[in-house]
Amino acid sequence: MDLHVDLVSGGKRQLSLANPVMTASGTFGNGLEYQKIFDIQRLGAIVSKAITRKPRRGNVQPRIAETAAGMINSIGLQNIGLSAIIRDVAPVWETWEVPVIANIAGETVDDYAELASRLDGVAGVAAIEINISCPNVESGLEFGADPDAANKVTNAVRQRTDLPLIVKLTPNVTDIAGVASAVVDGGADALTLINTYPAMSIDVRTRQPALGWGAGGMSGPALKPIAVRLVYLVSQVVDVPVIGCGGITTGEDAVEFLLAGASAVQVGTATFRSPRAALDVLEGIEAYMREEGVEDVSSLVGAAHESKAEPRPARATG
Ligand code: SIN
Repeated sequence: MDLHVDLVSGGKRQLSLANPVMTASGTFGNGLEYQKIFDIQRLGAIVSKAITRKPRRGNVQPRIAETAAGMINSIGLQNIGLSAIIRDVAPVWETWEVPVIANIAGETVDDYAELASRLDGVAGVAAIEINISCPNVESGLEFGADPDAANKVTNAVRQRTDLPLIVKLTPNVTDIAGVASAVVDGGADALTLINTYPAMSIDVRTRQPALGWGAGGMSGPALKPIAVRLVYLVSQVVDVPVIGCGGITTGEDAVEFLLAGASAVQVGTATFRSPRAALDVLEGIEAYMREEGVEDVSSLVGAAHESKAEPRPARATG
């Protein structure tokens, strides 16, 4: 079976994956702990926790609340900061076979540009994923919610790095196709759909929000049908690969995203239940391909577009 994915190819930028299964940013640390638990080198790629220019302590506790079909987080981009990543973590990534994608987050266009410029050429960093969709900081959703702002930040990063560039979008917009097209125009090589959906949970005993920050971002299985629809829509309006993310727990969940038009997938919240969830998803895709006689995983990508279902609405509304 051929599971190989050329996510970015053709020009001077290349990102080849041994298979379509990645970890999702913020759910796998920087991979260091997980390498002690299972063979992470078998994955298609690892995406780092969001990296900011300066270290961040994150939001006040509690920062995670479980829901009936997922969880809400308000971590607030806690991370060790760019310098420590370059000094202490990237040298470890460099020894790995699995490509590592550095997820970056900033408060200003200059932040993103600076992050990209300093990561450019760092051994161990195979690509950059821009997070313009974090719901847990004051400025988080602004770039991702507006096509012009999304275009501007993508373009600023594009000017500062030759690394393959992925942009992670929020579902919390009325016209995701418009934002997607704007970031592709800005120079994105691929898109990740979707980040968490803004959400809230209230503790009925304390009569207070369950999260210290008040609200947070919803992830997990409840999000999957929303994400599948947006992947289905966006993959028909852009000519770059889409990476599906949202509630993937099994191989068949991942196949659903591939059929909807994703070229690869990210496994996130499932990792909190089982640290080796991403590997289970990979093995599930392999089992599906064996059962269905699929020889090349790329033959699944967008296959649902050939169905009789009307590809509508063309814009993601409401
Ligand atoms: C966080 O650290 O708050 C989560 C990051 C995100 O949802 O983009």
